[in-house]
Amino acid sequence: MARHLITSALPYINGIKHLGNMVGSMLPADVYSRYLRQRGHDVLYICATDEHGTPAELAAKERGLPVDEFCAQAHDAQKAVYDGFALAFDYFGRSSSAENRDITQHFARRLNENGFIEERAIRQVYSPADGRFLPDRYVEGTCPHCGYDKARGDQCENCTRVLDPTDLINPRSAISGSTDLEVRDTKHLFLLQSKLQHEVEEWVARHEDDWPQLASSIARKWLNEGLHDRAITRDLDWGVPVPADTWPELAAEGKVFYVWFDAPIEYIGATKEWADQDPENRDWKSWWYDVDTDVRYTEFMAKDNVPFHTVMFPATELGVREPWKKVDYVKAFNWLTYYGGKFSTSQKRGVFTDQALDILPADYWRYFLIANAPESDDSSFTWEHFTATVNKDLADTLGNFVNRVLSFSRKRFGDDVPAGGAPGEAEAKLGEEIAKLLAEYESHMESLQFRKAAAALRALWSAGNSYLEEKAPWLEIKTDKDGAALTLRTAMNLIHLYAVVSEPFIPATSAAMRGAFALTDDTATWVTADEAKSLAAVPAGTPFTVPPVLFAKLTEEDLATYKERFGGEEG
Ligand code: MF3
Ligand code: ZN
Repeated sequence: MARHLITSALPYINGIKHLGNMVGSMLPADVYSRYLRQRGHDVLYICATDEHGTPAELAAKERGLPVDEFCAQAHDAQKAVYDGFALAFDYFGRSSSAENRDITQHFARRLNENGFIEERAIRQVYSPADGRFLPDRYVEGTCPHCGYDKARGDQCENCTRVLDPTDLINPRSAISGSTDLEVRDTKHLFLLQSKLQHEVEEWVARHEDDWPQLASSIARKWLNEGLHDRAITRDLDWGVPVPADTWPELAAEGKVFYVWFDAPIEYIGATKEWADQDPENRDWKSWWYDVDTDVRYTEFMAKDNVPFHTVMFPATELGVREPWKKVDYVKAFNWLTYYGGKFSTSQKRGVFTDQALDILPADYWRYFLIANAPESDDSSFTWEHFTATVNKDLADTLGNFVNRVLSFSRKRFGDDVPAGGAPGEAEAKLGEEIAKLLAEYESHMESLQFRKAAAALRALWSAGNSYLEEKAPWLEIKTDKDGAALTLRTAMNLIHLYAVVSEPFIPATSAAMRGAFALTDDTATWVTADEAKSLAAVPAGTPFTVPPVLFAKLTEEDLATYKERFGGEEG
């Protein structure tokens, strides 16, 4: 048993996320956490809303709410959707918490004591029309690298380059749209990342061979371009205040830390929020402090977040000169596109996570998204692909198998699992096959290859169908009642095995499958190779019920309705 700390990139508070966000961070982290818990590991899965900075202020303004009220509401709204997706966080916190404020200020003080923070006067975009400085997303314009004309002052969504508001061509205020912008002097704290370049390089060199190529190549690219000193404060109302004990002047001017400074620290902050709920029994430091080899830390994120997690946050942690836990494995994802184009929160294109749950239960989405996760490349969401996958894999291969087996057995043998004769050659062959596929599934899960794991799971489901077709109990029963009973009992054991091993992907359906059997003692959290071979966890005589259809088949009409509502190819 090992201790696993797992985090997924903190979703911005500014709005409900789309399916692309879900598949690139929270959902795979949940699947992985569930798997590890089932295998008996001690898992802590932490996430939170990322509440500071311009995205929060702009969204609150759009809603006409004070930013703290907006954040409280938006946090609950996001949490409700994640509950709907059955994301089993150990804790879902808020970066605006007191815990995060304290730890962020502590980090800043330590960085300062260690000579990694310097106060500098810089030139910032100022808008006379708005009467304020315009940091980050408060400025929009054309990306100097790729020409994208809706680039924001902090980063270009199109080419993922990190930008400074003064880099933008034809800049305009995101508040008023004013193009009458000037540049004025203002004092800010700078994190001297250039002084940490060497140390970060050494640290990355020690880890990158273990990381997937997408993560290590992005980290390398950043290091090769050289780490630049970066402003870590902003002229905003909403954020972690610069501590007055250390920087009285800046604190008096109301400066706050930049959102990307305090957001990753919230991984730690949220762990403390979790512990503060039950201080007698929970020890946040045992996950984060001086635990280099006791805890394995895995982070999940989309590729635009990789620089912050592989280079910048480690630089911060190294500069603090205290033994804070650093990431062991960075699982990064490419983009999920919508018909080959961008899913975009700001432009409201694609399918949002709340809408998805309005249409169909979480398990449909969980399975489809993970089976098509943009791991080695971008992948495209289309309604055609979604409905075809649901129908083939979930409705036909899994759902139909379960219902067919249980209904037929009930009709012919009553409400208990039938006995039948001793397992024969077909059962031995099936057991070998299942054990082999299970081993494949486990190895893909352990190496965080989600598409491959989904394929192995699908193969496990298919093996049951092949067995059933081969044995054809509906014919067998005419000449060999015991043989048919054996076939059905074996198939029911497959259903139980599916319930256990499919849980990380489709937890609600797994519960329904498992609940079909009234086992006196069903504590199975996983299946050993021997158990997979013998398929005997559900003994003859076990009462069972037939659950309602597990997955509805989606019709041509459904497909047309979805495409009409969300737009299809033309998008
Ligand atoms: N909110 C950021 C985004 O959606 C991710 C923050 S991840 C963390 O891109 F490191 F800051 F936590
Ligand atoms: Zn660009």
